[in-house]
Amino acid sequence: MHLIWPWQDRNRRFSALKASALALMLVPAIRLIYQLDTGEFGFYPLSLGGLVYWSGVWSTAILLFALAVTPAQTIFRWPALIDVRRMIGVTALVYTIAHIIVYFALRLWNFAFIANEMMTRLTLIVATLSTIGLIALGSTSLDAAIRRMGARNWQWLHNTVYVVTVLAILHALLSRGSFPERGWGLRPGRTVRPPQTPCSGDRP
Ligand code: HEM
Repeated sequence: MHLIWPWQDRNRRFSALKASALALMLVPAIRLIYQLDTGEFGFYPLSLGGLVYWSGVWSTAILLFALAVTPAQTIFRWPALIDVRRMIGVTALVYTIAHIIVYFALRLWNFAFIANEMMTRLTLIVATLSTIGLIALGSTSLDAAIRRMGARNWQWLHNTVYVVTVLAILHALLSRGSFPERGWGLRPGRTVRPPQTPCSGDRP
């Protein structure tokens, strides 16, 4: 098996389109690291609240970008765009995994508490279903999976991306917000939830 780097096309030639998409996908991560470093989210452990919030926002935005590729291909009559859809989808999964890891840290790696919260808060049940879907899509994103599953089954599975996206958006809407001062998550009455006192009383 010959490895194709993310900046190469199927013929293993350098692709400016894929290289640009890859660079764009790294921008939110670099920005998050910068924001953490400059104390824009406050300082540890309070900064974890900002990181959970923004990693969640970026996961959702990148998932929506992945969905936008097919219509954009038609609108701009740019068939080559399809080459970056897989990369954008997998990036959404990577940001989601980072989002979940930061959430674990926010809850001080207390897995008994985390399991309880993930099974009892509606927003986290919905988030877990969305994540399971994303993992299924990410792990079958290679061409070998299409050959193994057959094109019909593969297409059926990958059409569930719409369900996965609806669940992700529902999770964002149901969330109380761990970082209310910023962005579209601002709603009156939201409060910062300090990581030292994880609390499942404020459902969903
Ligand atoms: C098992 C999976 C997941 C867990 C445990 C999780 C956990 C959390 C937590 C704890 C928050 C902070 C708000 C709150 O406490 O209610 C949050 C916010 C958020 N998450 Fe997730 N999440 C998961 C999956 C996802 C996925 C798959 C996406 C999108 C692709 C996502 C997008 C967001 C967004 C946009 C927010 C900000 C919502 C707001 O505060 O207004 N999350 N998540």
